[in-house]
Amino acid sequence: MTMAKRRRVMAGNWKMYKTIAETRSCLELFLPLVAEAKDCDIVIAPPFTAIASAVELCAGSNVAVGAQNVSWGKDGALTGEVSAGMLAEAGCKYVIVGHSERRHFFHETDDMVARKTLAALGAGLTPIVCMGEMPEDREGGLTEEVLRRQFLGGPGSLTGEEFSRILMAYEPIWAIGTGRVATPEIAAAAHRFIRSCAAEQFGMEHALRLRILYGGSVKPDNIKGLMAQEELDGVLVGGASLDATSFASIVNYTS
Ligand code: PGA
Repeated sequence: MTMAKRRRVMAGNWKMYKTIAETRSCLELFLPLVAEAKDCDIVIAPPFTAIASAVELCAGSNVAVGAQNVSWGKDGALTGEVSAGMLAEAGCKYVIVGHSERRHFFHETDDMVARKTLAALGAGLTPIVCMGEMPEDREGGLTEEVLRRQFLGGPGSLTGEEFSRILMAYEPIWAIGTGRVATPEIAAAAHRFIRSCAAEQFGMEHALRLRILYGGSVKPDNIKGLMAQEELDGVLVGGASLDATSFASIVNYTS
C-alpha cells in the first residue's frame, strides 16, 4: 500500500495517576521540553479532575488535552458519567475511547465504543479509538479475527466522513504495562491489517489518511525503532508519559 504523509501524534495516557498539583508540576516541566516539537501533534490525557488545570496550563502551547473516557449520552440520568459536550467545554480536544482497561474492567463492548465515538465526534472532539488482542488471541492465531471484529463493531459503523475525523490506536493487551513492547515488525503488521480493514470498509483514500498510533510499553529507548516503521503514525504512551522528561524524550525522539 503506498503511503501518504501523515502527521504523527504523540499522546500520553495518564490513567488514574496525578492530582491537580501533580499535573501542574509535571506540565510546568514538560511544556518547555517539547516547545520546539513542531512536526507532530502532542496530547496528554489526565484524569477528569485535572483536565481544567491542564487546559489552563497548556493554553497557547503546542500540547492539547484529552480525556480518557466519555459517555455516549448527551445528558441524562447517567450517574458518574461525563458527556462529550462537557469535555469540549472544559477545553478537551481529544478523547480516548475503548481503551482495553475500559473494555476489560468496565465491560465496554464494541457497540459502546461505537456510540462513544459518535458522541465524541458530535461534540467536535477527536476520538482516539483503541483496539488490540489478548495474549491468548495472539497465541491462538486469532489476532486478525479479533482486530477485524473490533474494527467492524466500532469504527466500521461510522460514515466515511465521521471516520475521517477519528484516530485509532493499536494496543495489544499483552504489551500494555507489561514492559513487553511489540516488536516494530509485529506492530507494523497489525497496523497494516487495521488499515486494510479501513480500506475494505471506507476505500483506499480514507485508509491511507487514517492515523494509527501504537500503544503498549512505549519507552524512550524503544521509540526510535517503533517510529522507524512508516505504518506507525505515533504512539499512545501510558507509564512513560507520567514522567515529564521521559515523555519529552519520546516526543523528541528524533533530536
Ligand atoms: P503503557 O500503557 O505504555 O504503560 O504500556 C499504554 C496504554 O495503556 O495506553
